[in-house]
Amino acid sequence: MKSIQFVWGILILFAVACADEKGGDNPEIPELPSNRPPYSEERAEWYPGGENGTVFIANTMAYQQAMPFVDADAELYRAFMRGERLFEKSFVTTEGMGYSGLGPVYIRKSCIACHPSYGGRSKRVDKFDTNDSRNGYLLMIYDPNTPNLALASKYFTGMTQTRAVEPYKAPINEAGVHLEWLPYTDEYGNTYPDGATYSLIYPKVTVDQHAILFEDFDMSKHAASIEATIGIYGVGLLDAISDEDLRAQYALEQSRGYCPGIIGADIDETGLNPYYPGKHPGRFTYLCTRATLDNGPGSNAIWNITNVTRPDRRYHYITEEYSKVMSKDPDVQKALGQTEEEIFANLMSKELKPEMTQEDYDDFMVWHRTVAVPAARNMDDEKVKKGKTLFAEAGCIACHKPSWTTRSDYKPEAKLSNQKIYPYTDLLRHDLGLYEPGRVQVCRTTPLWGRGLMPVVSGHSDMLHDLRARNYEEAILWHNGEAKPSKEKFRNMPKEDREALIQFLQSI
Ligand code: HEC
Ligand code: HEC
Repeated sequence: MKSIQFVWGILILFAVACADEKGGDNPEIPELPSNRPPYSEERAEWYPGGENGTVFIANTMAYQQAMPFVDADAELYRAFMRGERLFEKSFVTTEGMGYSGLGPVYIRKSCIACHPSYGGRSKRVDKFDTNDSRNGYLLMIYDPNTPNLALASKYFTGMTQTRAVEPYKAPINEAGVHLEWLPYTDEYGNTYPDGATYSLIYPKVTVDQHAILFEDFDMSKHAASIEATIGIYGVGLLDAISDEDLRAQYALEQSRGYCPGIIGADIDETGLNPYYPGKHPGRFTYLCTRATLDNGPGSNAIWNITNVTRPDRRYHYITEEYSKVMSKDPDVQKALGQTEEEIFANLMSKELKPEMTQEDYDDFMVWHRTVAVPAARNMDDEKVKKGKTLFAEAGCIACHKPSWTTRSDYKPEAKLSNQKIYPYTDLLRHDLGLYEPGRVQVCRTTPLWGRGLMPVVSGHSDMLHDLRARNYEEAILWHNGEAKPSKEKFRNMPKEDREALIQFLQSI
């Protein structure tokens, strides 16, 4: 009940803010769709997903809409709806069902388990329990000497698996994973020059040695960290930005002394993207480890999160070490009635039966590419306009690049071509000098589009890669390193200006 009241509070606030626009007389009911301004160059920023990729809706459903052209095309709409179900459904182990194929070892049963409400961000939690629908954290075990490189190891898959289908055993027992949120005091004693104060927290993740399946794995020489989800909406539009434009942005920022030497490196993806084979600069995930949507975090997740095989991935996301340990395990041998050799061969096989059909996967990608971006709000409000100016003056736009125009020939979906979009990101990595950053020492600039709706859609405003920031203010105050001059400008603003800047962020 409390959360419903909270949502209504926000909606009412929101409606009041919009009342001028509508000449509105009934502030309780936010009727945003009627505010759809006719598209024009001057009003382009109301359409962060471009003319074709934006929906005018500001309620709890704001992050899960199809782009308008999908709604208008019966065949595309059918594919979108089937694809959406693959995102939402929990996969099962039973064979021959619509969503079969879970396991033998896995991370979650569904995408939505980590991307609740389609992903503003998941929620900060105190306990690492993958049955908790608010917990969108990925657990990473890494080598602290090479935090950005340790994507996978001999023992663990890059994204650590904590679940298994019986009789198999999980590589890590979740009960032995501990999350703590510790207070942090910055060099200014958490105080603005004007005397106002703030508080900051950061996570500490530990994993008990006895929670680890592998006897010869020494946790004391390793570290663990958590990473939270990024939004799903609009990723098709980010995919449609050309490689040339991305490389040009990188060159520009390097010439200004930003992100020295850390472009999301050119990744060799030969053969993995049917539309654009070859090498591309990374643009997806916090570390820019994925370059195109067709070999991106979503298209991989539909295979590796659940371990559901498909025609182009007829093998498991699994380590050899795990397969060895499981095949030698007497409990597993007994339950399966198979020998060590048979179990090992099956776990490591590259010719397993596909569990997901190609049609399902293709529909999934239609959905993935065309989830729309919610429209900006209140852009004519004087305070929001002031906030926009301050956002530029504080240098935020150096990294949170307001707009891009997508390539003119985007092959997978022509409607995503030539769109002027407003994601507020350069899609490049920066060192923000975060205290205890976990594995993410350099991090891609997170898109800011649509985030202002998080309290309405998801009931919270937790941000940054590990959700240590509880609101916009804290997110900004964690900006150090390359972004320190920018944060200093924010800290030195009068209170009204800090508020105006945040109101701008809430509106885009
Ligand atoms: C275990 C939790 C978890 C599950 C389940 C999960 N994701 Fe994610 N996802 C994440 C995290 C964490 C990130 C951000 C971290 C990163 O990618 O570096 C992310 C990032 C993404 C992104 C990247 C957005 C961007 O801007 O780079 C997309 C797209 C995505 N996920 C889609 C999916 C889809 C589709 C599924 C299901 C097939 C899925 N995810 C399942 C945790 C999850
Ligand atoms: C040097 C580049 C840089 C500058 C300058 C910069 N940012 Fe960021 N910003 C980032 C990066 C990188 C992240 C992701 C950090 C993370 O998640 O740990 C980020 C994250 C954020 C987030 C959190 C978004 C989310 O969903 O997690 C907000 C809000 C934000 N920045 C606002 C601002 C504002 C406001 C300014 C100006 C005062 C600013 N940033 C200046 C690079 C920058």
